[in-house]
Amino acid sequence: MQIKTLILGAGAAGLMCAAHAGPGTLVIDHARAPGEKIRISGGGRCNFTNLGTEPARFLSQNPHFCKSALARYTQWDFIELVSRHGIAWHEKTLGQLFCDGKATQIVAMLLREMEAAGAELWLQTALRELTHADGTYTARLERDGRETVVQAQNLVVATGGRSIPKMGATGLAYDIAGQFGHALVAPRPGLVPLTFPEGRFADLAGVSLPARVTANGTSFDEALLFTHRGLSGPSILQASSYWHEGEEITVNLSPALDPAAHLRAARKGAGKRSLTTELRQILPERLVGHLADHLDLSGNLADLSDKRAETLSESLRNWTLRPSGSEGWRTAEVTLGGVNTDGLNSKTMASKTVPGLHFIGEAVDVTGWLGGYNFQWAWASGAAAGRSL
Ligand code: FDA
Repeated sequence: MQIKTLILGAGAAGLMCAAHAGPGTLVIDHARAPGEKIRISGGGRCNFTNLGTEPARFLSQNPHFCKSALARYTQWDFIELVSRHGIAWHEKTLGQLFCDGKATQIVAMLLREMEAAGAELWLQTALRELTHADGTYTARLERDGRETVVQAQNLVVATGGRSIPKMGATGLAYDIAGQFGHALVAPRPGLVPLTFPEGRFADLAGVSLPARVTANGTSFDEALLFTHRGLSGPSILQASSYWHEGEEITVNLSPALDPAAHLRAARKGAGKRSLTTELRQILPERLVGHLADHLDLSGNLADLSDKRAETLSESLRNWTLRPSGSEGWRTAEVTLGGVNTDGLNSKTMASKTVPGLHFIGEAVDVTGWLGGYNFQWAWASGAAAGRSL
C-alpha cells in the first residue's frame, strides 16, 4: 500500500497532525482506542490548554525551539476549535481550561477533524519493521494477525514518551531516533510525586496546604500534599520537573504570611496562648504536631523572643528536604527530555538530516508545566508538522 504520510501514534499530537495533513495519511497505534491519555487527563475532563501558554512555561535543552510552533498554533486556535465543535469548557484556576463534560469529547472532536481531512486510522496495529531507502519509508505492520506493508514519503513519529507504561507508553520514538541518527536528551520522569525514606511523613499522609516549593531556583506556589510515600500535589509535581536525583528542594510552608510578624502580633494580645495553639491558626493541626517533633515549639507566646520567632519563621519558610527519589514512570504525567531539538526544524518538526522524518509531541525534548501546557505542545507541534506535509 502506497501512501503519502504514515503517522505512528494516535495520541494528542498524532491525531492533530493527521487533521492537518489531509488525504493520503494513515495513523497507526498499537492501543485499542485512540487518545487514551486525553481520555483520562484532568480527572476525566481534560485540561486541554492554558490561557497563559508562553515559551517560558516549557522545559527543553533549547528553550527557543518551541517558540515557532506555539506561536503558529496558539491556545486561542485550540479554543476556537473546541468551541466550533460545541464543546463547553471553563477556566478552573491559573488559566487552566477544562471540558465541562467528558474528556472523550476532545478525542471525538479530533477523530472528526481527522476524518474530515481524509486521514485514516488503524488501531491495534504494531510496527514490526521500519526501513528507509530511495526517499521512501517502508513499514511492515501487523494488524489482526495479518501483515501489511505500507510505503510512505513521510514518517511522523508521535508515539509519546515513557510515562505510564501501563497505558501503552513505549520507547519507540527513541528507538526510531537512534535508527536514523538523531540524538536524545536523556528521558526522565516529570510532573511526578517525590519519595522519601519510608515513614518520613506517614503521620501527615493526607494533609494538604498552600506552599511554595523551589527546585533548582524555580518556585511554584500551589498546593502541597503529604502522602505515605512522600510529597505530592501541584507544587511538588511542578518542582519535580526541575529537580534531579540527589538534589534538595526547599519548601515554604507559609508563603503568603510572615509567621514571625503573625506571632509577634499575637503575642501582644494573647501572651498566655501556647505557641503550638497559635501556629494552628496558620498551619494544619497535624503539621504543627509533626513539626513539634523536629523544632522547639515549647512555651507560650509571651516566652517567645523576637529572635526565636525569626528563627522559627525561617524554619517554616525555608524547609530544606532531600527526596530519596521519585515515583518514576509509573505515575509521571510526562517525560522530560526526548529527541534532541538540535536535529529538528522548529517550524515543521522535520528532521534536518533525514528527508520526510518528523518527531512531534512528548517524544521531543519539550516539556510543559502542569496545567494544560503539554497538550498545547502536542496540538502545536502536531499542527506544525501536519501543515508542512
Ligand atoms: P501520547 O502519549 O498522547 O500518544 C502516544 C500514542 O502512541 C499512544 O496512543 C500510544 O498508544 C501510541 N504508541 C506508543 N508506543 C507505540 C508503539 N510502539 N506502537 C504503536 N503505537 C504506540 N497534559 C495536559 O496538558 N493536561 C492534562 O490534563 C494532562 N493530564 C494528564 C494526566 C495523566 C494521567 C497523564 C499520564 C498525562 C497527562 N497530561 C496532561 C500529559 C499529556 O497526556 C501528554 O503530554 C500528551 O498526551 C502527549 O501527547 P503525545 O501525542 O505526544 O503522546
